[in-house]
Amino acid sequence: MKILTAVFAAAALTIALPTLADDAVLTKNKCNVCHDATAKKVGPSWKDVNAKTKDIPTAVKDAVTNGSTGKFGKIPMPKQPNAVADIAALAKAIESHK
Ligand code: HEC
Repeated sequence: MKILTAVFAAAALTIALPTLADDAVLTKNKCNVCHDATAKKVGPSWKDVNAKTKDIPTAVKDAVTNGSTGKFGKIPMPKQPNAVADIAALAKAIESHK
């Protein structure tokens, strides 16, 4: 029984870990100050970004390096120079919130 519990715990960890790691990069780069997985904050939710934007890696690169204006509403997104090194991981994290 103990072995079974351990196997299930390990399986649960393997499933849960990628999501945690994904969201950590969004928190670290302060994206989640303005964005949330499902709720609109200052910026659109990741769910809305996924629904509206087909090419997430390109959209993230553009938004982070140049900022974004006029796609979701009146509030513009300022560029995020500190996040440039993490663009690929950020795109993956945002895509995990479809
Ligand atoms: C100061 C608030 C703020 C911060 C911080 C912020 N965003 Fe945004 N973001 C916005 C707003 C507002 C929009 C909508 C802009 C528009 O309408 O074009 C947006 C839009 C986006 C979009 C959609 C662009 C598109 O073309 O579909 C992406 C992707 C995005 N943000 C990623 C990020 C990432 C990644 C970070 C962290 C590195 C981040 N944002 C940090 C406010 C913010």
